[in-house]
Amino acid sequence: MANCCTIYKILPLLVLIISIWLVTFFRPKCHIFEPEICLHLGTKTPYRNVANLNTDSLNYSGCVPKKIWAIIRHGTREPTTEVAHVMNERLHFLKQVIVSKIDSGEATLCPEVKESFEKWVLNVHGPQYLTTEGANEMLLLGKRTRLRFPDLLSDKYSNTTYKFRYTATERTEKSAKYFCSGFFGSEESRNVWYPEALHKDPILRFYKLCNKWRKTVSKNPLSVVEQKQFMKSDEMQVIVEKVSKRIGVQRPLLFDDIYLMYQMCSYETAWNSTIVSPWCVMFSVEDVKVLEYFNDLRYYWRDGYGFPLTYKQACAAFNDMIKLFTSESSEPKAVFYFTHSGTLLKLLSFLGLYKDNDRLLSSNYAKLHDRKWKVSQIDSFGTNLAFVLYKCGKTYKVLILHQERPVRIPGCPDGYDLCPLNRILDIFDNSIKNCNFNEMCSSDEL
Ligand SMILES: *[C@@H]1O[C@H](CO)[C@@H](O)[C@H](O)[C@H]1NC(C)=O
Ligand SMILES: *[C@@H]1O[C@H](CO)[C@@H](O)[C@H](O)[C@H]1NC(C)=O
Ligand SMILES: *[C@@H]1O[C@H](CO)[C@@H](O)[C@H](O)[C@H]1NC(C)=O
Repeated sequence: MANCCTIYKILPLLVLIISIWLVTFFRPKCHIFEPEICLHLGTKTPYRNVANLNTDSLNYSGCVPKKIWAIIRHGTREPTTEVAHVMNERLHFLKQVIVSKIDSGEATLCPEVKESFEKWVLNVHGPQYLTTEGANEMLLLGKRTRLRFPDLLSDKYSNTTYKFRYTATERTEKSAKYFCSGFFGSEESRNVWYPEALHKDPILRFYKLCNKWRKTVSKNPLSVVEQKQFMKSDEMQVIVEKVSKRIGVQRPLLFDDIYLMYQMCSYETAWNSTIVSPWCVMFSVEDVKVLEYFNDLRYYWRDGYGFPLTYKQACAAFNDMIKLFTSESSEPKAVFYFTHSGTLLKLLSFLGLYKDNDRLLSSNYAKLHDRKWKVSQIDSFGTNLAFVLYKCGKTYKVLILHQERPVRIPGCPDGYDLCPLNRILDIFDNSIKNCNFNEMCSSDEL
């Protein structure tokens, strides 16, 4: 009978424990910020997420660096006037909704979020202007670039050794100047000479001159078909419902609102590493991965592998590098171009980098979970691609750096950072000899 009595004694305790557990388990947990979100912000990802801070000089035994050619996307910027306008209108409205839903207990957001929403304002200074974070990204990139090539790059500026150039925009001009400030020091960087900036620069922003590309790709509804379909996919529907539920609204929010919140989360994360944007708290990591894919689809079909003309026209920039590396003259030694996302993605695709076996489609999000084409990594703010020419005995070899790390392009020897220049000339033989930009890009209809 002892056993039976024991049971009776502990029964109330057992009931109590089970009830507490049930209450805790089923009580809606408040949703908190998940830091991993910051790795999935698409083309609005800050450069600090992908930078290589190791500045050891890049020595390859028996090889001496001779020349460098680099092309760099501007640092972190502000939104366009149109996007800022929509953000201002719509997000201030949504902010009120969220605050009232937290008050009424309908939202499953933690009470702390309310405070940061109440303080939230959109803080912008000008259309697509470079931000303080963007200036720092460029300053530090300039510093590291010079440290890695101590024998090639001198901190004394010379108009014949160095060539800098930017497109006619505030963000690339400032990016170039901050880069130089990090590279030469602020004093010396004042001597740097820049040619007149062009809006449609034939090397830095070739696609602005390619009418056929504008007509058949960038302005063609076909290039957004997959993205639009993904917007209506089950995966996206789930996100819209999850976020709406978190906020506590009866009817699901519009996709456009969800995307606007994601964009604001991205910008604010990029702008300041010490601040958590309240808009990021609306999402889980899985949610932003879906929104990241939505972003990847856009750039895949507009600036990547979607249509051959998109990357073929990048021969205009690529051949500028080839010309430098095959020239008899030892000067200029270093060429740095400051440009835009569209140029970097087209060049990466021209080189055959980050190409998945499957095409990016609205239907294969799950299948391409571990895809190579992730703009959060390959096309963040400050994205950069550099070619370094080395002389190794009698032969010339090329090191290719993307985001400051060696990359190997298809056709170059496996397991080596350096690729013989002759091999590169072979791989791209056709693009080097037949880069007839005007013919490739002419269109009767524009
Ligand atoms: C690379 O070469 C430089 C200059 O020749 C030298 O100072 C440096 O120690 C070398 N670094 C490594 C990692 O071998
Ligand atoms: C980020 O925010 C902190 C706190 O408001 C501020 O001190 C800092 O200057 C900001 N950093 C940048 C890069 O804007
Ligand atoms: C630098 O060189 C360019 C030609 O490449 C020339 O037009 C310019 O005046 C030079 N600038 C200075 C400061 O010497």
